[in-house]
Amino acid sequence: MALLEIQGLRTYFKTQEGTLQAVDGIDFNLDKGQALGLAGESGCGKTTAALSIMKLLPANGYIAGGKINFMGQDMARVTGDKLRAIRWRDISIIFQGAMNALNPVKRVGEQIIEPIILHEKVDEEVALKRVKELFEMVGINPSRIREYPHEFSGGMRQRVMIAMALACKPRLVIADEPTTALDVMIQAQIIALLKSLQKDLDLAMIVISHDLSVLAETCDVLAIMYAGKIVERAPAGEVFYDPHHPYTRGLIAAFPNIHGEKKMPASIAGNPPNLINPTKGCRFYDRCFMKQDICKTKEPPLVEIKPGHWAACNFVPPMKG
Ligand SMILES: Nc1ncnc2c1ncn2[C@@H]1O[C@H](COP(=O)(O)OP(=O)(O)O)[C@@H](O)[C@H]1O
Ligand SMILES: [Mg+2]
Repeated sequence: MALLEIQGLRTYFKTQEGTLQAVDGIDFNLDKGQALGLAGESGCGKTTAALSIMKLLPANGYIAGGKINFMGQDMARVTGDKLRAIRWRDISIIFQGAMNALNPVKRVGEQIIEPIILHEKVDEEVALKRVKELFEMVGINPSRIREYPHEFSGGMRQRVMIAMALACKPRLVIADEPTTALDVMIQAQIIALLKSLQKDLDLAMIVISHDLSVLAETCDVLAIMYAGKIVERAPAGEVFYDPHHPYTRGLIAAFPNIHGEKKMPASIAGNPPNLINPTKGCRFYDRCFMKQDICKTKEPPLVEIKPGHWAACNFVPPMKG
């Protein structure tokens, strides 16, 4: 059994203009020790998918359908203390921009000790020892635990956040845009750190990024999202060397870009559709270079096109047999 099974997950937001279908029927499994990358342009639903798994949606967000099964439990039914325990001990999340969310008036060590004492029910001495180990693990000199957040650089603060995410030895870590706010050199260091921790600790990880190069380095499997749906899902190498969906092909064609620029390729100019009352047909229709009339009305399902490689396009033929 997979550690995490997501089936047909739909997460919607109530807004003044209507119901916004932010995540609209996504499926994937994640095994112990496996890293899955969620990629796609800003607004395609990556963060919403992550928050759904953690049950940390804002008040106007709700799970409209589907299943989230984590370690054999139906997350829809987990509430209260049990949910709080899962959140730190079994699943942890490194939020987008979290490194700027450290409490400025508390020493960094204290900020990690607290959840350890609370969730592991250990005394302060044991917790302190654990924080020192964690700091070593993430490459911060343990002597710095008494410093305040402002004494750390951006990259070092992100290491603190990673240490915090690992504090209670979770099985699954979700990292939402873990390097987006950092400059390029530091990004590479943080990616290398995440990758080595994932292997050393046999962690399952969901890495979310709009930047494919981040995911290429860290993930075993990639899921490409577009307008609330997964349009392609395959082992990471396959996505890069044999992309099938026209959206993925556009993304990959622009990568790696010799100028080091990270912009949307010309072949997929335009913007994603509005997710309030989206079209019944293919959501990529407006931007697709392969589109035909049928795509206006026929929504392509995600089908297996070769073993382990799935795509959702009316013109990518499914595997035979
Ligand atoms: N609290 C909210 N209320 C209404 N719409 C939201 C809310 N949060 C996110 N959205 C919308 O949901 C969609 C998906 O957003 P998000 O999951 O943040 O995308 P990503 O992480 O891929 O950039 C976007 O259209 C966004 O505007
Ligand atoms: Mg996001």
